[in-house]
Amino acid sequence: MAEEGSRERFSRLGALMAIVGSAVGLGNIWRFPYQIGENGGAAFIVIYIGAMLVLCLPMMLCEFVIGRRGGSAPIEAFGKLAPSSPWKYAGYLYAVIPFIILSYYSVVGGWSLEYFFRAVTGFFTSDTTQEQTTEFFRAFSSSPSRPLVCHTIFMLTTALVVSRGVKKGIEAVSKALMPVLFFIMLAIAIYSIFLPGSGAGFEYIFKPDFSKVNGKTFANAIGQAFFSLSLGAGVMLTYASYFKKKENLQTIAVQTSFSDLGFALIAGCAVLPALFSFGLSPQQGPGLVFCTLPVLFAKMPLGVVISIAFFLCLIIAALTSIVSTFEVVVASLMEHFRIPSRKKASWIIFVAGWLVGTLCCLSFGPLQDFTIFGYTIFNFFDTFTANVLLPLGGLVAVLMVGWKMDKDVFYSEYTNDGAGSLNCKLFPFVRFLVRYVCPLVMVGLFLIQCFFHS
Ligand code: TRP
Repeated sequence: MAEEGSRERFSRLGALMAIVGSAVGLGNIWRFPYQIGENGGAAFIVIYIGAMLVLCLPMMLCEFVIGRRGGSAPIEAFGKLAPSSPWKYAGYLYAVIPFIILSYYSVVGGWSLEYFFRAVTGFFTSDTTQEQTTEFFRAFSSSPSRPLVCHTIFMLTTALVVSRGVKKGIEAVSKALMPVLFFIMLAIAIYSIFLPGSGAGFEYIFKPDFSKVNGKTFANAIGQAFFSLSLGAGVMLTYASYFKKKENLQTIAVQTSFSDLGFALIAGCAVLPALFSFGLSPQQGPGLVFCTLPVLFAKMPLGVVISIAFFLCLIIAALTSIVSTFEVVVASLMEHFRIPSRKKASWIIFVAGWLVGTLCCLSFGPLQDFTIFGYTIFNFFDTFTANVLLPLGGLVAVLMVGWKMDKDVFYSEYTNDGAGSLNCKLFPFVRFLVRYVCPLVMVGLFLIQCFFHS
């Protein structure tokens, strides 16, 4: 086993907070609640948990195994683990994917900042209508100035966190902010539960409706779990390179997955019961958060406080997620391109990410007529990463561990050299999932998303 060396290492709690911080993001807040409602409530949750256990857990483990055994960010890790085969080039994929994600995620992070400021200054009043908020969002996002300023602040904050290092930056911020995020969301959820007429929201989330379950439900559950757990972009791989050798990879993977699910459910309970209570209807994506919720908050008792708290949550969730993707690119730059200074690498990525993010930002306004395959720049990045690059990244990780890596190496990382007795027993099953089930499902999903996506 490689020794711990001079590489920075997360503490046990720090590792969990950083990984959960990456996983819990916009996917939990604006996608999951709607997905459950549309896909059969509790029935979807059961399928989601199945997808999480059978597919996403083994995939997360594969990223962990490559990262910890390689002891480096993706490019170097693949280079070390497969020095004389074409596999060594696979790591480059995980430098490109997180770079694209961080560029467009920063734009949305910037929007959350703007809405937070609006909430603090009491911009939305109790007679604000959904037409007004929709128009405000359209005018704001298409303006060339304010979103750009917000995107700059958001990217700058990210760069500052990452430039401070793994322990002092990422770990410290995650440990401080994740509990805040949890308690605020929980408080909003409890508040929301006690609003009159909130029962319809619970029905929307939890009532099992098997008539809505079909082939697509499974694809949706897998896609949602995959995105929500930040798989396929090298994030888990890079963070695992900062794990200590004694950490049990499986325990971390299980704790992360269930915490992420827990957060998503709490977010659902924070938003949906209140929406139904005020006769508003759920939708997903930016529309929910930036057009519907401001109307809801304005109408609620204590709405100003709730809206400030909610947009703060959105900022925290987005920040800890983008920090993880930023770190992957910075670590790759430091190791592969031999830029030993973390600060310097962070500023280089800041400039590059800011430029590409600016194009994404402007694609809502001045650049909206510039399209790639019929998509605006932002939508192209978003769709292309979610539907093509991330499944591809996930597939590469399972193939690498299942088919290229020595079985003994996989065994030694997974069981910590035979120390974890449960892991030793589970190993053949996990390896079977990694070798056969995950690749087949990923290829299937990939084809469905490439060819049947509307
Ligand atoms: N998991 C985050 C969310 O739920 C999104 C995210 C951040 C992500 N980094 C990622 C998704 C890397 C895939 C890969 O919003």
